Amino acid sequence: MKFVREATGRRATIDGFVTTTRRATSYSQGDIIDLSIIVPTFNEAPNVAELVRRTAAAVADIEAEIIFVDDSTDDTPAVIRAVASSAALPVRVIHREHGLGGLGGAVLEGYRAAAADVCVVIDGDLQHPPESIPSLYARHRQGEVDVVVASRYAAGGASKGLADKSRVFVSKAATALTKAMFPIRLKETTDPMTGFFLVDRTTIDLDGLQPRGFKILLEILARKTLRVAEVPFAFAPRFAGESKASMRQGLHFLMQLTALRFGKMSLFAVVGGLGAVANVLIVWALTQAGVGYIASAIVAAEVTIIANFLLIERFVFQDMRGQASGVSSRFAKSFLFNNAEAVIRIPIVAFMVSASHISVVVATAITLVVAFFVRFVFHSLVVYAPKKRGAATSPVRSAIEDFDKQAMQPGEL
Ligand code: GDD
Ligand code: MN
Repeated sequence: MKFVREATGRRATIDGFVTTTRRATSYSQGDIIDLSIIVPTFNEAPNVAELVRRTAAAVADIEAEIIFVDDSTDDTPAVIRAVASSAALPVRVIHREHGLGGLGGAVLEGYRAAAADVCVVIDGDLQHPPESIPSLYARHRQGEVDVVVASRYAAGGASKGLADKSRVFVSKAATALTKAMFPIRLKETTDPMTGFFLVDRTTIDLDGLQPRGFKILLEILARKTLRVAEVPFAFAPRFAGESKASMRQGLHFLMQLTALRFGKMSLFAVVGGLGAVANVLIVWALTQAGVGYIASAIVAAEVTIIANFLLIERFVFQDMRGQASGVSSRFAKSFLFNNAEAVIRIPIVAFMVSASHISVVVATAITLVVAFFVRFVFHSLVVYAPKKRGAATSPVRSAIEDFDKQAMQPGEL
């Protein structure tokens, strides 16, 4: 495929035909493409015609192309080719036999094949209304941004199309956890999990991305400091077919998060683990010295809560203290949260044991793991939340960003 880039670096001229059977295009000589619309598809045959029709109508004023990156096992590629022949804009399909990297890998392949540098990724099931593409594009044209995120959670957006209450809960919890793990890089983004966004591919390092599963935007935003804007959109129900999201995708997502941000959370876990050991030692020492069990437990809990706070101030969230509220306010929030957690967890364990007959050890372990994540989310998003957005970039702010950049290096601890 031969693309001749113009001096602006933002436009491309299609100069010839693709001869491989894998990639077919119907471009004529000299077409200029300003926007590449990348659609990852897995068995979406009944949605293709409607998607192309609505997209073509929506982007009638933009020189755009559609690239389907398809991993289907059904007749989706044939349907795409049929639709392409009569479409109002250029439509290509890249069919992949082995579906490397799943949805994320497909998006990456789309970026590589795109005729334009400005690329929009959109789902193939019409949950993302193509009518929102022009507003993403217009926002990018205004300048000063590398990424424009179509957000369900920004003011004016909606997430009603999520299948049921549990999907909404999972989506919100995953968003909170993700933001907690990347509080600086994801500060401008209310919906880092969306699959609908615009990227100028020249601003990202395509070779550095390691797409795993569904969350390609997260991968892009977490790896590099990019200028991000948001446009609200209403997430719709699927037009046809069923979702490919699964428990396996959930697992992929957790691995991706851990791999991307191994640092902060594992430090937080190490500090928490030290606290647990100290707790046991203090109870042991006090009861040995003749103090009653309840009193010993309370003293041990309060001492470790305070020590825990001092340690995370010093070692875990030190890069965020500068932007957060004052130390007494941070301490009050942390102290209250940990006490409330200790008080609430005990009756929950009791309830789990009596209601579902699991052993007290298992119930304690489950609540401790859940409590760990909740505690981390709370500290990252509430205790160390940045105060209102600062005006100009201060030296402190750039030092923080610098730290965040370093913290991204894999294997740090
Ligand atoms: N090429 C390719 N390969 N495409 C895939 C694959 C794959 O392995 N798996 C899914 N897709 C395509 C689907 O065909 C669809 O066009 C799009 O990716 C999204 O998949 P859905 O199965 O519709 O996922 P969803 O609706 O549950 O998830 C949506 O919401 C998430 C946030 O809640 C997507 O927009 C996700 O990207 C988004 O993160
Ligand atoms: Mn979907």
